[in-house]
Amino acid sequence: MKTTKAPREFALEQLPEGISRKNIDDHFSLYKGYISKFNEIEEHLERTAKSGNASYSPYRALKREQLFTADAIRLHEAYFDVLGGEGRCEGTILEWIDMDFGSFENWADDLRATAMSARGWAVLAYDVVDGCVRNYLADIHSDAVWAAQPLIVLDVYEHAYYMDFGPDRAAYIESWLQNVNWERANAAIRRLSIEEARKAA
Ligand SMILES: [Fe+2]
Repeated sequence: MKTTKAPREFALEQLPEGISRKNIDDHFSLYKGYISKFNEIEEHLERTAKSGNASYSPYRALKREQLFTADAIRLHEAYFDVLGGEGRCEGTILEWIDMDFGSFENWADDLRATAMSARGWAVLAYDVVDGCVRNYLADIHSDAVWAAQPLIVLDVYEHAYYMDFGPDRAAYIESWLQNVNWERANAAIRRLSIEEARKAA
């Protein structure tokens, strides 16, 4: 059965210091492009013969791109969701970071190293299975750990920062760190009811 997605709205008026409106607007257009392609792929899947081959088949090709675009959408939504804060980490997410990293500073050091090492994404995620938060590195959208819920997502593809920072990715990361809306992570924890799950783990 065909499903469709629509672009979400985000409170992007309060942009992170150092990231221009033009960069954000272009980035948001890219995100909407993934939405369009996802819906287009769904249409093609409806019309394509349901037979497969693991070397090549039209169904395989569409399924690969369905996964790619779905993950691109998910990660970009998580990225836009936490933009525009004041970088003040508090509440449940801070408690979890303290539990699993020892301190916020330890987390930030690991995040910086992860983001400088990644080709695509640095993701603070809660692993539903083992009950820990970790920074994961994703070189492409679909590098993912099953059942790890992204809470704070940083896009380090060049399109996210090159317009404003040139090759200085480290400066972009520092700017982003000072403008994370950590309350969005706490809201996601409440929305997904994973706080109770962690207590039970
Ligand atoms: Fe991006």
